[in-house]
Amino acid sequence: MPHLLSLIREDISTVMERDPAAKSRLEVFLCYSGLHAVWFYRVNHWLWNQRLFLIGRWFSQVARWLTGIEIHPGAKIGRRLFIDHGMGVVVGETTIVGDDVTLYQGVTLGGTGKEHGKRHPTLEDGVVVGGGAKILGNIVVGKNCRIGAGSVVLRNVPENSTVVGVPGHIIFREGKRVIITDPKQINDPLSEALAAVANEVDKLRERLTELEGSEASASPLAASMQGIIEDLDYQI
Ligand SMILES: CC(C)(COP(=O)(O)OP(=O)(O)OC[C@H]1O[C@@H](n2cnc3c(N)ncnc32)[C@H](O)[C@@H]1OP(=O)(O)O)[C@@H](O)C(=O)NCCC(=O)NCCS
Repeated sequence: MPHLLSLIREDISTVMERDPAAKSRLEVFLCYSGLHAVWFYRVNHWLWNQRLFLIGRWFSQVARWLTGIEIHPGAKIGRRLFIDHGMGVVVGETTIVGDDVTLYQGVTLGGTGKEHGKRHPTLEDGVVVGGGAKILGNIVVGKNCRIGAGSVVLRNVPENSTVVGVPGHIIFREGKRVIITDPKQINDPLSEALAAVANEVDKLRERLTELEGSEASASPLAASMQGIIEDLDYQI
């Protein structure tokens, strides 16, 4: 119990530090449903570890009714997790969350529906996940990463990266802007269509060169794209 009280004090201090809207410790204690959900989780996780699975699950549902945040009692969550606003947040059973993580409303740390065993993500220390972002599957989001609002992340993310988009791709790594040029890595239908068009243009240029009997003045389009791609480090 004393440990729980010191965690509660620490959680309130965390909100005071991270949320400019927080005016007083009493306000944070009374009004931050993200904290209430985390405190429920601490008790539920203890119950889960005592093999009181049903009662742990039941209390996690009660917490969901009260806070709008669903944290499975089997998840492993570090210290100073701050769930801001919180409504609609879902944290799956095999999720691991490090210390000093921030989640905004509507975040899902979920499974893809295709895996068994460890099927939810691992978020390392200091990760910030923007509103509505979905991080799916047994992947690792490295230390201090920022996941943009509305992103869908399906692959491991190296530490100190910023990821946005659907599917998620890196826009900053180690503080440096990353230019996204490789359609295969972004792996969305529109980019694939652009890659197909670039290949087709190359073929037409070759054919034109044959018919006109002169050499193409520029390097093939797809090859020049490849040159740009090889110089960049953007994979996640
Ligand atoms: C991802 C994020 C952390 C990036 O912030 P940043 O480092 O300041 O980056 P910028 O705003 O300079 O954006 C860089 C580029 O990414 C794009 N981008 C930023 N956030 C994006 C997002 N969520 N989805 C898609 N693209 C995004 C910007 O349009 C910009 O593109 P451009 O350079 O081609 O114009 C931030 O935009 C974000 O989404 N934060 C989450 C905030 C949140 O959820 N708040 C909820 C409060 S209740």
